[in-house]
Amino acid sequence: MQGLYVHIPFCRQKCFYCDFFSVGYNEHTASQYAEALSIHCRRYKNEKINTAYIGGGTPSVLSEKQISKLLDSINDNFDTSSLKEFTFELNPESTTEAKLKILKKAGVNRLSMGLQSVNNEMLKKIGRVHDFSMFERAYKAALNAGFDNFNLDLIYGLPQQSIADWENNLNKAVRFGCSHISLYPLSIEEDTPFFNSGVCVNEDLQREMYETAVRILADNGFDHYEISNWAKPGSQSVHNGNYWRNFKYIALGAGAAGYENDFRYLNIVNIEKYMELTAKGMSVKQEDDYIDEETRESETIMLGLRLLDEGVNINDFKKESIKSALQELLNEHKLINEDGRIKLPKDMVYVSNSIMSRFMK
Ligand SMILES: C[S@@+](CC[C@H](N)C(=O)[O-])C[C@H]1O[C@@H](n2cnc3c(N)ncnc32)[C@H](O)[C@@H]1O
Ligand code: SF4
Repeated sequence: MQGLYVHIPFCRQKCFYCDFFSVGYNEHTASQYAEALSIHCRRYKNEKINTAYIGGGTPSVLSEKQISKLLDSINDNFDTSSLKEFTFELNPESTTEAKLKILKKAGVNRLSMGLQSVNNEMLKKIGRVHDFSMFERAYKAALNAGFDNFNLDLIYGLPQQSIADWENNLNKAVRFGCSHISLYPLSIEEDTPFFNSGVCVNEDLQREMYETAVRILADNGFDHYEISNWAKPGSQSVHNGNYWRNFKYIALGAGAAGYENDFRYLNIVNIEKYMELTAKGMSVKQEDDYIDEETRESETIMLGLRLLDEGVNINDFKKESIKSALQELLNEHKLINEDGRIKLPKDMVYVSNSIMSRFMK
């Protein structure tokens, strides 16, 4: 199994909480960037991929022509004969019927939309450029275009958010009939407007919101299959599943991270330099770290335990340090062994960071 991740580092406006790599959208630069991605794709001629994920930034901010170029470059170069899942991230304000038609025709079969909140006042407060009605319009357009596999992202613990507001978010989101939901606790990242203006998070309240979500989503038929992800039966994310199972993935684009041939790498976090290096046929890697056996085992366990239903196979670990940490956690009842699969018990999910840290190298 091998995935492909493509990073689109453009947004219409930077949200106040976000430190993902992206800059303001500019038609000329984005066209040159689409060309650079196309050159980068050619280096992977006939490489077989099982999943593809176009993320950002804001992929939907690209023009129709730029989206077509990107998708054609992927389909013309990679071997997509066994492609299971092809996801494209959309923001409500830049989703149009014409773009959805292009996505459908090119084989995209899963959409992921950042909704973040259903509350218009909150959306303004966190720097989003859309309101709830724009989301409703975009969602309906996607259904009309024939898409039926849909993820929604929501953030909890936003400034002055109450439990009642959060419950309303969840209830409204599930009413849309999406097949997948990703929930993120607000984190305050350095050099963001939230950080600079001293916004704080209330961890106790975030925990209560998480528990509320676990209850409401279970009541609505969602399986809590990964720490931050819920899916209707059969709609778990295949692409993210590749990450959690520690499989390989190719990264295209400035600031994209990949894992190939035992190396984890990060592409240069600079759009101009990325375009220059691809044009010259040079490597675009800014960091390239060899993953030795022990690191691989420790990553496999930390990622695999995130999959709550599946966990990891006890026989996959040979290193003494990993085996002894596993045994200690089993003795402390912080992990469970179900027929040889080691899993994180659901009541330990909220303290999973401290459990995972026991496997750090
Ligand atoms: C990289 S963003 C890209 C998605 C898309 N551009 C959007 O805005 O909807 C993926 C998701 O990460 C989450 N996210 C980003 N920054 C976050 C933060 N500081 N705290 C919590 N969640 C965050 C948001 O839910 C967002 O939808
Ligand atoms: S949350 Fe999405 S739209 Fe907002 S700045 Fe980050 S990547 Fe861009």
